[in-house]
Amino acid sequence: MQTLSSRVTQKFQEIFSSQAALLVRSPGRVNLIGEHTDYNNGFVLPAAVDKAIYMAVERRRDDDVQLFAMDLDQSYRGSLRPPLTQSALHWPNYILGIVGQLRNLGLTVGGFNCVFAGDIPLGAGMSSSAALENAIIFSLNQLFGLGLDPMTMVRLSQKAENEFVGLQCGIMDMFASMFGRKDQVIRLDCQSLEYTYFPFRTEGLRLLLLDTQVEHSLASSEYNVRRQQCEAGVKLVQRQHPSVRSLRDVSLEMLNTLVAPADELIYRRCSFVVEENARVVAGTEDLQRGDLAAFGRKMYASHEGLSRKYEVSCVESDWLVDQLRDAGGVLGARQMGGGFGGCTINLVQADTIEALVERIAPLYRKAMNRELKWYIGQIENGTSVV
Ligand code: GLA
Repeated sequence: MQTLSSRVTQKFQEIFSSQAALLVRSPGRVNLIGEHTDYNNGFVLPAAVDKAIYMAVERRRDDDVQLFAMDLDQSYRGSLRPPLTQSALHWPNYILGIVGQLRNLGLTVGGFNCVFAGDIPLGAGMSSSAALENAIIFSLNQLFGLGLDPMTMVRLSQKAENEFVGLQCGIMDMFASMFGRKDQVIRLDCQSLEYTYFPFRTEGLRLLLLDTQVEHSLASSEYNVRRQQCEAGVKLVQRQHPSVRSLRDVSLEMLNTLVAPADELIYRRCSFVVEENARVVAGTEDLQRGDLAAFGRKMYASHEGLSRKYEVSCVESDWLVDQLRDAGGVLGARQMGGGFGGCTINLVQADTIEALVERIAPLYRKAMNRELKWYIGQIENGTSVV
């Protein structure tokens, strides 16, 4: 069977009658624990996976951009002359947003041709959009010799998403997609941007992703509201503690005395974040000790918080986590990513997976009237030239 990367280069040749100058692979990500902590200056524990976007590019002589998204069978052509305007198609905006960020820095980006395809399930909380942004910024960096370092590219990808696409996301997705390393998870301190790799020794365990097939639409949804609620909590604490900058500086005690009496909803949101941060720190210690059972318990606790306190879960995710809690061979389960659908991430004994999925899928269909999809999250390297 033809690989995805060769299909992309072949399509490029067909459309542009030339060989691509560059082929880049940019992966999706999983996050083991630490959800909704990134934009609160907290900790996350993601890894890049074996599902990725492949992008072929070459420079053009003019200032135009010609793009082809193979999975959607859609093309886009436009001028890069300022001002850049949003496309009515959604996907070109990820690419145009990156060009805009590079231009803001005074960097020279000329016209280019681009073909891409991927196997990251869309809307499944595995960060296909971050992978696309990283793919294009990485490609343009090489193509136009911009000399950007990986962390700068990550920050620009995030900024493009914030400003051009309108989702006030944190840095985790782009970071994990760019910095991923085979068989390692990365603990990122989203405040200092310091990061540490930890070998993910799973010995007989796998990361099973169960796709609810509920498409989350984060931008139009509650994601940005959660961000504002966290900021509101910080403001309440700042009245007494003016030096506090984010929920990273906030303790449960501060929340109990200063936020709980003022606003119960804001209290619940903020206490989830503070607890989730503590879970990442302790969970990394579990991993270092090789205590995956303890790590798994924190995944369940994380889900409980996401569902009850942060309220970013959905009935389908809750149902799956409940089923897995009662199944044998499952150490931990929780909803992953921004929420309101997408995938659950589950730490499961490898030899039980097939029987488990075979048993759960028909029950899921019956209970939720949806097809369950599943993937094994294999941890791979981050964005690179193929
Ligand atoms: C989305 C965002 C990330 C992060 C997660 C929740 O994936 O893009 O920045 O906030 O949700 O942890």
